[in-house]
Amino acid sequence: MTRDFRILVVDDELAMRESLAGWLHKEGYAADCAAGGAEALELLGGRTYDLLLVDIKMPGMDGLELLRKMKETHPQTLVVIITAYGSIESAVQAMKQGAQDYLLKPFDPEELILLIAKLARQRELIRENQALKERLREQERTGWGDLVADSKAMRAVMRLVEEVAASDSPVLITGETGTGKEMVARALHAASQRAYGPFVPINCGGQNESLLESELFGHERGAFTGAVQARRGRLEMADGGTLFLDEVGEIPPKMQVDLLRVLEEKAFTRLGGSQTVHSDFRLVSATHRDLAALVRAGEVRQDFFYRINVIAVRLPPLRERDDDIGLLAQYFLLRYGRETGKTVEGLTPEALRILNAYAWPGNVRELKNVMERAVVIARQPLIGKNELTFLQPDQESGPELISLEEMERRHIQRVLEAEEGNITHAAQVLGIDRRTLTRKLRRQEAK
Ligand SMILES: Nc1ncnc2c1ncn2[C@@H]1O[C@H](COP(=O)(O)OP(=O)(O)OP(=O)(O)O)[C@@H](O)[C@H]1O
Ligand SMILES: [Mg+2]
Repeated sequence: MTRDFRILVVDDELAMRESLAGWLHKEGYAADCAAGGAEALELLGGRTYDLLLVDIKMPGMDGLELLRKMKETHPQTLVVIITAYGSIESAVQAMKQGAQDYLLKPFDPEELILLIAKLARQRELIRENQALKERLREQERTGWGDLVADSKAMRAVMRLVEEVAASDSPVLITGETGTGKEMVARALHAASQRAYGPFVPINCGGQNESLLESELFGHERGAFTGAVQARRGRLEMADGGTLFLDEVGEIPPKMQVDLLRVLEEKAFTRLGGSQTVHSDFRLVSATHRDLAALVRAGEVRQDFFYRINVIAVRLPPLRERDDDIGLLAQYFLLRYGRETGKTVEGLTPEALRILNAYAWPGNVRELKNVMERAVVIARQPLIGKNELTFLQPDQESGPELISLEEMERRHIQRVLEAEEGNITHAAQVLGIDRRTLTRKLRRQEAK
């Protein structure tokens, strides 16, 4: 295995340098050697290292001085100090000056390799989170406002929306609940020539028929009991802009006939009125239902369906947008972090895995709520599986039957996590000595 993690070994003792570099090479790390501080600085000028392994006691420039100098020019490079038992204070001082960790001589190669594996994982994590942030920044430059999407499926949607924005043809947006239908409708409006006109949404579901009718068409004074004043309807308000008929499948068939006429003539009368009102709007509709099936069932008129479905935009469910889940999660995380003043930076790989494995019946809206909740309960900058416990795969199938070895593996991981990766503490909790734990971890890693 080759790893994308380059190490520089700095030690004045040739034998030590060579054996360290030898172990590292065997583990698949790229490692170079320097015989002292001056040579190390020279090498640092020429290439980037992820980690410096530095002996603290060296003639000339010692480890502490090297640490001080290189932290000025290479603050991102990690440093692990190697020190003899007698000079532990200087190791402590090195940690204060920005070293990540120290090793006491003599040490077990396994201990060194485990420490480096841990640092390499951390580094990879930071890189992954930075890459996500970078992708988000690029997103912000695309002019799609708050709409975050990078998956192939969503890119195709965005391309289609950009193509059809300029025309005045009716658009029907379909997709499961929470997939972003309204968001896309607004983006479509913003990308159209009507962007400076109004965007007028109306939810056609869950309203009684006469209320919906007067909401849409407006009414004259005295049109029905309670109509003490004349009122403009949504059709009128949308003049010069976009009318968004949300849950369009819920419109009763009789009103579909009336709407069809409005769409053809761009004119109508208010309820109880006789004067023709002209309104020039672009129609965008949305539904989470299968309209073709509703046509077959006789709930939606075929002519109405054809009229509103000139351009069809299908939003894929979130589970079909693997590339978007991490990106959206990061986006909501940073946003809620900002709003609540909490320092949140990203997700652990495990958290990402959980998010990717989940089915997301509530789609983006659900992910948004989950991240809000995670930020509220988070006690550290990285959101991990502890913040997502309520998302764990369903327990219906009962406890999993696993081998003793697997149980041991999971238990060790749990303890290690609780002890924040500290092997000595974890070994104490497990009641075994540090070397035994190191060996077990080593064996697990090899699998
Ligand atoms: N691509 C996206 N980027 C950022 N936020 C999104 C995205 N898609 C959806 N959201 C957010 O998710 C929530 C649900 O989106 P929206 O209301 O547009 O979905 P919908 O498909 O209209 O849902 P419903 O069918 O329940 O009406 C909103 O808060 C929206 O801001
Ligand atoms: Mg909606």
